[in-house]
Amino acid sequence: MSDTEYDVVVIGGGPGGYVAAIRAAQQGLKTAVVEGRGALGGTCLNVGCIPSKALLGASEKYHEATSTMDELGVIAEGVSFDVSKMLKYKNKTVKGLTGGIEFLMKKNKIDYVKGWGSFVDANTIKVALLDGGEQELKTKNTIIATGSEPASIPGVEIDEERVVSSTGALDFEDVPEHILVIGGGVIGLELGSVWGRLGSNITVVEFLDTIVPTMDSDVQAEFTKILTKQGMDIKTSTKVTDVKLLKSKIKVTVEPAAGGDAEVIECDKVLVSVGRKPFTNGLNLEAIGVEVTPQGMVVTDDHWRTNVASVYAIGDVTDGPMLAHKAEEEGSNCADIIAGKVGHVNYDAIPNVVYTTPEVASVGKTEGELKEAGIEYKAGKFPFMANAKAKIGQHPEGFVKVLADAKTDRVLGVHILGADAGNLIAEAVLAMEFDGSAEDIALTSHAHPTLSEVMKEAALAVAGMEVHA
Ligand code: FAD
Ligand code: NAI
Repeated sequence: MSDTEYDVVVIGGGPGGYVAAIRAAQQGLKTAVVEGRGALGGTCLNVGCIPSKALLGASEKYHEATSTMDELGVIAEGVSFDVSKMLKYKNKTVKGLTGGIEFLMKKNKIDYVKGWGSFVDANTIKVALLDGGEQELKTKNTIIATGSEPASIPGVEIDEERVVSSTGALDFEDVPEHILVIGGGVIGLELGSVWGRLGSNITVVEFLDTIVPTMDSDVQAEFTKILTKQGMDIKTSTKVTDVKLLKSKIKVTVEPAAGGDAEVIECDKVLVSVGRKPFTNGLNLEAIGVEVTPQGMVVTDDHWRTNVASVYAIGDVTDGPMLAHKAEEEGSNCADIIAGKVGHVNYDAIPNVVYTTPEVASVGKTEGELKEAGIEYKAGKFPFMANAKAKIGQHPEGFVKVLADAKTDRVLGVHILGADAGNLIAEAVLAMEFDGSAEDIALTSHAHPTLSEVMKEAALAVAGMEVHA
């Protein structure tokens, strides 16, 4: 094989792509990863998961220092914050982690080709190199892992200055006085929380009748109450009909989704967070005839094969939840399949986390979905309020809800609203992966005092046997 001939070329170095490349190399396949943004890690590390969590972490520390710590006897006087320092900390975290991925490429002897890739034919990838010039890579297999980009709504143009996507909202140099968020999903609520904690007024305009529409209805109701108490103005069943940029302010016209009287809201920034769309620009998929939906999503079978032999697709550019860990699972399993091994992803056991305070985490079916499917179930619910560790940590809000099959007791879904929900959900994911029952969780010893005891109690509650409530 010459220097530019590969077993696998991965286009896109995000969590899907770089993990696929590592697994392919571990399987002994000669591998290259092509990435055009100048850094590995994709959306997640550069402008997504990592920078947003860095700002969520920093702003939460400030919030605690100025609100709840006093009760603990920790008197923090004259606490303030410095936005430019927070952004620096965020950027440093991103740089460290993306640099780490570059190290992993070297360690696994993967060629990192810096530039934008496109198909010449099914086995030839042309790369427009960032340093200038072009390079052609011959490959037996290609994995398309080109991710996604922010979507918008008709008539609203994102300029990343005043009307921003998540990318712009991660880089405000000053705290805006008033941010209007279009879309009450994950990005809107996470980044709304960041800037809200630092002093912005946050108005969330959601088209549907609830925020986080894919979550369990108990979570939606309680989460809405908690965020409202934190100061977010949440307007559900409402649509944005006009965004007018004035000299310094922005005038946003909203009206009831079903029609009715319009209201004009004045704000300083608009955050558009109405979902993301698959990104395939410039790949020249037409040249090889890869099937793509009208929305731009690459169509694959259950094992990430497109309709073109030896061309695969994974992550945000394909069907399913747009989550980093989903992309990673697909990446490693797709590489296994290319290496002639078995690869499988259990889509029923992919967790979903919103990193607000408190966090929200879920896996499996919601109560609404079970009802709709006519599946008989039992529900067990337990509040954090009755848990010692939650009280000690000043996080009494929320609950764990376990949904189990009425006949077999098999866990069908778990929904958590509460402190550290993102870590707590791992137990439920594992239980579901092992086809476990609510009784299995209930019979498992959970250390005391920990938040995880709420999971045990909720599992006990499925049989009406909870102890501490
Ligand atoms: P991406 O990460 O989008 O990577 C694709 C890469 O391909 C990009 O770097 C792009 O530059 C490159 N590329 C595209 N076309 C080409 C080409 N032709 N040639 C070369 N390179 C190309 N998910 C979570 O699980 N947890 C979170 O906490 C979380 N937080 C998020 C916060 C925000 C603000 C956002 C926007 C997203 C968040 N996500 C989170 C979602 C997560 O970032 C994505 O699901 C994940 O990055 C998808 O991985 P991917 O590899 O499919 O694509
Ligand atoms: P989202 O799908 O989470 O939420 C979009 C929201 O906008 C929905 O509630 C939807 O009903 C609403 N909406 C759509 N059109 C609207 C309109 N015209 N007017 C008002 N509301 C409208 O999408 P979001 O927040 O943009 O995030 C994109 C994706 O990024 C997520 O789906 C998720 O996969 C990923 N992400 C994951 C995170 C995590 O795992 N913690 C954090 C941030 C993003």
